[in-house]
Amino acid sequence: MRKALLAVLGVAIALSFGACAKDNSHSKLIGVAMPTQSLQRWNQDGSNMKTQLEAKGYQVILQYANNDVNTQVQQLENMITKGCKVLVIASIDGSSLTEVLKTAKARKVQVIAYDRLIMNTPNVDYYATFDNFKVGVIQGQYIESKLGLKDGKGPFNIELFAGSPDDHNATMFNQGAMSILQPYIDSGKLVVPSKQTDFNTIAIPGWDSGKAQARMDNLITAFYSKGKKLDAILSPNDSLAIGIVASLKNNGYGTARKPYPVLTGQDCDIPNVKAIIAGEQSMSIFKDTRTLAAQVVDMVDSIMSNKPATVNDTTTYNNGVKVVPSFLCTPVFVDKSNYKTVLLDSGYYTADQLK
Ligand code: BGC
Repeated sequence: MRKALLAVLGVAIALSFGACAKDNSHSKLIGVAMPTQSLQRWNQDGSNMKTQLEAKGYQVILQYANNDVNTQVQQLENMITKGCKVLVIASIDGSSLTEVLKTAKARKVQVIAYDRLIMNTPNVDYYATFDNFKVGVIQGQYIESKLGLKDGKGPFNIELFAGSPDDHNATMFNQGAMSILQPYIDSGKLVVPSKQTDFNTIAIPGWDSGKAQARMDNLITAFYSKGKKLDAILSPNDSLAIGIVASLKNNGYGTARKPYPVLTGQDCDIPNVKAIIAGEQSMSIFKDTRTLAAQVVDMVDSIMSNKPATVNDTTTYNNGVKVVPSFLCTPVFVDKSNYKTVLLDSGYYTADQLK
C-alpha cells in the first residue's frame, strides 16, 4: 500500500515537474525575425542569435522574410501568438511594424530592434547596432586618405551611392560619410560629375546589387565614356559594391589605363573580401555579428529577469516617437593590409573560405 502510494506520488511529482518544465520552456520562447537569407550577414546574424540564445536555455523561433514586409509582419504575428516573450527584429522597412507592435505591447511582449531602428512606434524597448554614423565616417575617411585630400591633393572625380531609403541605417551611413566628404565637395577638391548627391537620387532600394550595377552602368555611359577619370566611389555596403564592381569590370576598368577607383563597402561578405584581395574593392567595414548577437542575448537576459538592459547611447536614435535606448558596437575598417589579422586571426573566417 505504502509502495503504491509512493508510486502515485512519484507520478504526480513527475507530472507536475513535467508541466512545470513545459511552462518554463514556453515562457523562455524568443522570436528572432531577420530580413532575408540572400545576404551572408543576415544568415550569420540569425544563426549566431539562435546558437547563443539556445546555449542560455532559451527556445528560439528564427525566421527570415525574403525582404518582403508583409511576410515579416505575418511572422511576427505568429511569434506573438505562439507566446514569445521577447521579439528581436531586424526590420525590412523600419516604418511598417507599428500595427503588429501594438499587438505585441498588448500581450506584454518586449521588443529589441536588431541592427536597424524600428521607426514611428513607442513599442520598441531597446536597440542594438553598430555605430552607424561612424561606419560612414570610416568610409569617408578612407576615401579622404587614399586620395590624399588632407594633403591638399585634387580635384578628384567621385560618385556617391546610398542604401535603401526605408532603412534608417542608410541615412546614418550617408550622414557619416558626407560629414567627411562634403567639405571637399564644397571646396572643389572632390567633384561629382553626375551632380547626383541628393540622398533620394543616389539611394538603392532594397540594397539591391542589380540596381546598383544598373545605376553605375548609367553613370559610366552618361559621364565617363569620353575618358573622364573616375577616382572614387562611395558605396555604403558590400551588396552595392558587388554590383558596382560588376559594372566597372564590364566597362573595362581594372587595367593600367583604367584602374579601379577607390571603392568602399561594409559587412566583409566573403565575395567582397575576395574582391578586396583581388584589388577590385578597396575596403569594407567589419561588423562582428558575434559581438552584436552576444549583446542582444544579454539584453534578452536582462528583460527576462526584469532588469534594465545595458545601453551606451540614450540620445542618438530617435525613432520619431521616442529616443530608443541603444547599445552601439564598434565597427572596424578592413582592407588588403589588415584583413588577415582582423578576419582570420579572430576566427571569423578560415583562409580556405577566402580562396
Ligand atoms: C546593415 C548593413 C547591411 C544592409 C543591407 C543595413 O541595415 O546595417 O550591414 O549591409 O543593411 O542588408
